[in-house]
Amino acid sequence: MKKDLLSFAGMNPEDFEDIWLRAARLKKMLKEGKEHASLKGKTLGMIFDKSSTRTRISFEVGMYQLGGIALFLNSRDTQIGRGETLADSARMMSRYLNGIMIRTFAQESVEVLASYATIPVINGLTDLLHPCQILADLFTIKEKKGTYEGVRVAYIGDGNNVANSWIEAAAHLSFELTLACPEGYDPDQRILEESRRCGKGSVRLYRDPRDAAKDADVLYTDVWTSMGQEAELKERKEIFRDYQINADLLGVANKDAMVMHCLPAHRGEEISADVIDGPQSVVIDEAENRLHVQKAVLEILL
Ligand code: CP
Ligand code: NVA
Repeated sequence: MKKDLLSFAGMNPEDFEDIWLRAARLKKMLKEGKEHASLKGKTLGMIFDKSSTRTRISFEVGMYQLGGIALFLNSRDTQIGRGETLADSARMMSRYLNGIMIRTFAQESVEVLASYATIPVINGLTDLLHPCQILADLFTIKEKKGTYEGVRVAYIGDGNNVANSWIEAAAHLSFELTLACPEGYDPDQRILEESRRCGKGSVRLYRDPRDAAKDADVLYTDVWTSMGQEAELKERKEIFRDYQINADLLGVANKDAMVMHCLPAHRGEEISADVIDGPQSVVIDEAENRLHVQKAVLEILL
């Protein structure tokens, strides 16, 4: 495993398996009430330029459970918000902390921070990628279906950070990924090409959600409007109208298809209430797994 987790670039299948093996062990220990203070005395700084519920809580609780602590650093309240450079922040924070988790806009900011930091940097979401989410999602698929190999995942909606990280994962792991995105809202072209070039899995892009959902083992979606795109809300609601996971679309997927969503969800937009709250939905287990998988990542990197 590399020093940082900024994307899945440079990771090999063993790195993924190592994370999931540890995550399963940590989850079991937690359920059995066994303490495991492997990060005693360690501190994680968490820089947030965007809102969060799951990422903040799971990293903070994760550090606590591993015997360390996490500092919530809202960039508005730090000197980063007043223009202190990422280079200075990274160099100086490396003297106080043992790791940094950052949620921000540009992927480049995360890369710059990591290049100056002498401690591990974890990408907690950028406009381009959301690797921690997909690590937890694939762990959930393994847990529920026994494996991700050969599993067909259908992503319906915006070609955003979550979609891009799914595509990146397919470059390293042998699952089938089908996506349906409206024209003009495709995933990142460079990531798509790179994944197809060195892909272990297969990635197919459709316009019609029914084509992507056909025979899927997992139906996955995310919000139509991501953080930072709020000005496009009205327009996006119109464009994405037909990109909803609902009972009709679920009918096209495999009978035992699992419904996933990174959350937060907007019922009646990207997913209907009956489906997200229905028996095939695993969204709460999926959210729980953010904790176990990130603890594994923290243990490995810190
Ligand atoms: N899925 C996810 O990252 O949720 P938060 O935005 O609440 O952290
Ligand atoms: N695509 C969403 C994911 C939220 C977890 C966003 O970036 O807002």
